[in-house]
Amino acid sequence: MGIYELILRRRTIRQFQPVPVPRSVLEKIVNAGRLAPSAGNLQPLEFVAVDDDEVRAAIFPCLRWAAYISPRGDPMPGQEPAAYIICLVNLRVREKGYEHDVGAAMENMTLAAWEEGIGSCWLISVDRKKVAEILAIPDEYRVDSVLALGYPAENPVAEDFRGSVKYWKDEAGVLHVPKRSLKDILHFNRFG
Ligand SMILES: Cc1cc2nc3c(=O)[nH]c(=O)nc-3n(C[C@H](O)[C@H](O)[C@H](O)COP(=O)(O)O)c2cc1C
Repeated sequence: MGIYELILRRRTIRQFQPVPVPRSVLEKIVNAGRLAPSAGNLQPLEFVAVDDDEVRAAIFPCLRWAAYISPRGDPMPGQEPAAYIICLVNLRVREKGYEHDVGAAMENMTLAAWEEGIGSCWLISVDRKKVAEILAIPDEYRVDSVLALGYPAENPVAEDFRGSVKYWKDEAGVLHVPKRSLKDILHFNRFG
């Protein structure tokens, strides 16, 4: 699949198969994050990959899923993420203004995962203090985002925006994700 097709087809996944993600694949995904653009090439980001069962179980309660449809968007028992990649910011390298770097790295990782057949959910509704404790993160690092990963056990669909940005689940449990249209968001040469 080409990169454009990959981008079109990627959806956030919150239901996962109980199948481990190989270490080599986790390394490949983080490598894609490592090589993302970085303002000033300062590269303030580091990552913790979690695939151990006990650590996974400790991280799971620190996360909040799909606020618009809670609790229907939570991973169901047995469909929790198979792995996590926690994105850390070294505040000694960059104290503020790192958010663009995080975005670029997270999107690179999301797409690299999708190419491997692995779904992901980027989470910022995270109990950062608890995650930092569990992972023994030093004080000079900020826990920014969590990427939850695993082979998909759902097949969400993007649909045209019809007045609400709220994603929703139909009777069959399929997640629908409204997206604003190109004509509504693209301006050529001047606004409007
Ligand atoms: C910065 C950011 C933070 C997000 N935080 C969460 C979160 O805490 N919990 C969650 O379930 N989804 C989270 N998401 C996923 C969004 O809900 C999802 O991207 C959005 O509904 C659009 O769906 P799509 O990714 O399939 O296009 C986050 C996405 C982004 C970009």
